[in-house]
Amino acid sequence: MISSQRAKSFSSILWKIRRFLNIGSEKRLQEAVGEIRGFANSIVRQKKQAMFQISQEFSPTEPGHSDEKFVTDIVISFILAGRDTTSAGLTWFFWLLHRNRHVEEEILREINKSRVKQKNKTQHFSVFEQVKDMVYINAAICESMRLYPPVPVDVKEAAANDVLPDGTKVKKGMWVGYLPYVMGRMESIWGRDWAEYRPERWLENTGKGKWKFVPKDPYSYPVFQAGPRVCLGKEMAFLQMKRVVSVILGMFRVVPAMEERFDPVFVPHLTSEMQGGFPVRIEQRTV
Ligand code: HEM
Repeated sequence: MISSQRAKSFSSILWKIRRFLNIGSEKRLQEAVGEIRGFANSIVRQKKQAMFQISQEFSPTEPGHSDEKFVTDIVISFILAGRDTTSAGLTWFFWLLHRNRHVEEEILREINKSRVKQKNKTQHFSVFEQVKDMVYINAAICESMRLYPPVPVDVKEAAANDVLPDGTKVKKGMWVGYLPYVMGRMESIWGRDWAEYRPERWLENTGKGKWKFVPKDPYSYPVFQAGPRVCLGKEMAFLQMKRVVSVILGMFRVVPAMEERFDPVFVPHLTSEMQGGFPVRIEQRTV
């Protein structure tokens, strides 16, 4: 939150002074960074210990401090890249589902179909196999991330002078941003019904009650970015989210905990948060 507020501030001078003097939000940021580094470092150390115990041949011969720092950096970037994004995506997904019960019903039909298929197979199904045919859930997740992309804004700094395809000149050091949140709501990309949560816009009916998933090109749907630095964890993110959705919805109903209508507030930090989270009650499904 503090990092993203830096980017929103009118001038960078104030936060740089605070950082220099180590006061206020910058002091809190340093403390938070220290806590996160300590946590990630403990994961690395535990893993090293476990690897050492498993194989006595593996001799760490005291790896250099930089090795541990490098691996800690990787752990932190994977937690930020992979955990906060998928949880933000799922929070908005479950809220949209509550508002669109017909989508939940279609998802349940897909889960039941998959259960029947698994029962008829004798061999063990891997997680990948369990979710690979769940095209409707795939579409429902894509559609919720269109309206509520986990990374709502992404900014780049030009490494050198450049000219964009439309002729706009970009000078070295300038910032260029793109907004998946805004692009997901553009009539020119999604049509007049852009405001509707409609997983069917990602699907083609092939007849016999079967759906085929039709992906959108990443430049029109840059939720995972586009081009050479596209998200490396995209497939894994879908695998995880589809698995969570199918297991939870197959067993439970996720209903808002409050009695009155819940209108969430969108908070665009580094990831798309819901103010105060989404308090829910988990009810066992009886049918
Ligand atoms: C719904 C979930 C996710 C979304 C929306 C998402 C989105 C993004 C976006 C927009 C970027 C580009 C950032 C930039 O360069 O400015 C990115 C990069 C990246 N993501 Fe994801 N991500 C998700 C899940 C994951 C997961 C689960 C992992 C790994 C476990 C992951 C690993 C990465 C990595 C390593 C990069 C850096 C790629 C590079 O710079 O070459 N992401 N992601």
